[in-house]
Amino acid sequence: MSRYWSELVNELTPYVPGEQPKTDNLIKLNTNENPYPPSPAAIKAMQAEASDKLRLYPDPESADLKTCLADYYGVKQNQVFVGNGSDEVLAHCFQALLKHDQPLLFPDITYSFYPVYAQLYKIPYKQIPLDIEFNIQLNDYYPANGGVIFPNPNAPTGKLLELHEIETFLQNNTESVVVVDEAYIDFGGESAVSLVNQFPNLLVIQTLSKSRSLAGLRVGFAIGHADLIEALIRVKNSFNSYPMDRFSTAGAIAAFKDNDYFNQQREKIINSREWLNEKLTTLGFKVVPSASNFVFATHQNKTAEEIALELREKKIIVRHFKQTRIDNYLRITVGTQEECEALVESLRNILK
Ligand SMILES: Cc1ncc(COP(=O)(O)O)c(C=O)c1O
Repeated sequence: MSRYWSELVNELTPYVPGEQPKTDNLIKLNTNENPYPPSPAAIKAMQAEASDKLRLYPDPESADLKTCLADYYGVKQNQVFVGNGSDEVLAHCFQALLKHDQPLLFPDITYSFYPVYAQLYKIPYKQIPLDIEFNIQLNDYYPANGGVIFPNPNAPTGKLLELHEIETFLQNNTESVVVVDEAYIDFGGESAVSLVNQFPNLLVIQTLSKSRSLAGLRVGFAIGHADLIEALIRVKNSFNSYPMDRFSTAGAIAAFKDNDYFNQQREKIINSREWLNEKLTTLGFKVVPSASNFVFATHQNKTAEEIALELREKKIIVRHFKQTRIDNYLRITVGTQEECEALVESLRNILK
C-alpha cells in the first residue's frame, strides 16, 4: 500500500498465475501448457521476422492474422478480434460487453481471472454454483443478467457442455452477451463458433496457448458478430494500438496453417489423458471426466494438499486450489506420455 495509489488499486485482489519455476529439472504439470513444442513452421516464421523490419510498427489491425483465422473458421474478417493472449481479449470483453446494471453471471468454480476482471472494471457479478457433479447447469443462468461467461470445457474441472446445450441456452437468452471461453475446446469439444452467425449475442474466445503450444507467444482471439467485434476494437484502440507484435502475428499464422502438426500433437495429448485417467482411477483417485489437456482428481485416502507437497519433493508440480468445494482436488496438466508415466510412478510410491 502506498499513499500514491489510486483507490481502485488499493481495493484490487490480482490474479495469481501458476508457478513458473526458474529451474529446468521439474516435471511441470501446473499451468496447462502443451508439453510438445510449437509447429516447426511457426518457429521458422518467427525467426524470419527477426530482421530490420522490427524498426517499423506492426499492422495495428492485424489484418493478415484475422484473415487467416476467418478462413480457418469460415467467418468474415470483421467477425474476428485478436489480442495479446486470450486474457487480454477477455479483459476487453468484460469492459466492452459485460459491464451493465444487471449482474454478470459465471460459475462459482471456474477460471479465477473472471472475478478479477469484474473487480477491476467494477462490474456487478453473481457466481452460479456448479451442480454436485461439477456440471454447469445453464438452466440456472436465465435470471435477468448483464451477460454470461463460462469456459467450455470448464476450468479447472475439465467438464464439457455439449453444443446443443449452449444452443438451447442462446435461444432463450437473447438480451445479453454470452461469452464462451474455449481455451481448451480442441482437446475434445465441439466449438460454438458454428453458432455465431445464428446468434448475434454470442462471442467465442480461443487461444494459441494450449492446443497450439504457444503460451509464450501470447495470442488469443474472439469470433462473433461484427458489432461485438467492433466494441472490442473500440476498447483496444483506447488502450494499445499494437497488441500483436510482428513475431506473434507471423508465428500464429504459421501455426494455424500447419494443421497436420496440430492434429498429431493434440491426439497424443488426448491419448495420454485417457491413459492417465485410467491409471489414476486404479490408484484410488476419483477423476472428473475431462475434455481438456488436464485432469481434475481427488483421492479417497490422502488429501490433495499432501499429495501436491509430496509430488513437489519428487520434482513434479501440479496445481492445488485452496478454494471451498475443490480444496481436496488436484488439477494435473497432461504432459508427454513419459511425464505421465513418471507422475503415476511417483503417485504409486506416495500412496503406498
Ligand atoms: C479458461 C481459460 N481461459 C483463458 C486462459 C488464458 O489463456 P491465454 O491468456 O494464455 O490465452 C486460460 C489460461 O489458463 C484459461 O484456463
